[in-house]
Amino acid sequence: MKTQEVAAYWEKNATAWTTMARQGFDVCRNHLNAPGFLNMLPDVNGLKGLDVGCGEGFNTRMVAARGAQMTGIDICQKFLDYAKETEKTETYGITFQHASAQALPFAQESFDFVMSTMAMMDMPDIPVAAGEVFRVLKPGGFFQFSICHPCFQTSLFEWTRDENGEPTGLICGDYFHEEMEKILEWTFSNAPEEMKNEFGNFVIPTYYKTLSGWLNMLLDIGFVLERFLEPCPDAQTLEKYPALKGAAKVALFLHIRCRKPF
Ligand SMILES: C[S@@+](CC[C@H](N)C(=O)[O-])C[C@H]1O[C@@H](n2cnc3c(N)ncnc32)[C@H](O)[C@@H]1O
Repeated sequence: MKTQEVAAYWEKNATAWTTMARQGFDVCRNHLNAPGFLNMLPDVNGLKGLDVGCGEGFNTRMVAARGAQMTGIDICQKFLDYAKETEKTETYGITFQHASAQALPFAQESFDFVMSTMAMMDMPDIPVAAGEVFRVLKPGGFFQFSICHPCFQTSLFEWTRDENGEPTGLICGDYFHEEMEKILEWTFSNAPEEMKNEFGNFVIPTYYKTLSGWLNMLLDIGFVLERFLEPCPDAQTLEKYPALKGAAKVALFLHIRCRKPF
């Protein structure tokens, strides 16, 4: 699928996604991935950073709040409009720009670090995008990103449940693909029914790679692997957000930090 086609899917999802996420229904982002990502992030105070696939800018703002001078890029104009609107009232000096990860409109060695949250697996030509990240990074700069866990969020994905409907584990399979494209339909499961009905499901192209595919891709580009995280909710978080029960059974997400050598 071409980037423009992927963008067209996201334009259709952007209002529903932003509305629901901003009302707190993206519990995986708010209470699992974002805290884990920020905890693993090195000190970025005073650094120049790029957020690839920034969406409506939630994570870009979190990192800017740590003192980084941020630029966010996305192929979806509607997400960028929401991000720019928010920048007027929650001002962090972030530049939001329409651009594709596969052709970053920046000179080589422009950024001290690049981040990307839950976006790299949603774009075709992932190695091209990762190569672009490497190009725009200064030597010694890092790339930290989160993705759906390639081992568990496989193309065949089905929860096993106990008699109360609580997740006990996962049936997964159909693993051995390198960038197989699939159109996924889903929504934030704990959003109220009327909201889910109003907006319908998100319809999103996604791309499956194996774990070794992801890691070897980074190594082949020249990155040095530095740190990994498989975020798991703690007992307190689970009590507050039962929707995360599945995430306590298997690793749903993988965070990776790698570095461009000097
Ligand atoms: C799951 S959303 C994540 C958004 C945001 N990073 C977050 O954590 O909330 C994936 C994002 O990737 C963007 N995206 C997909 N393909 C892209 C590409 N080729 N270049 C830039 N952004 C892209 C989509 O428009 C969407 O905003």
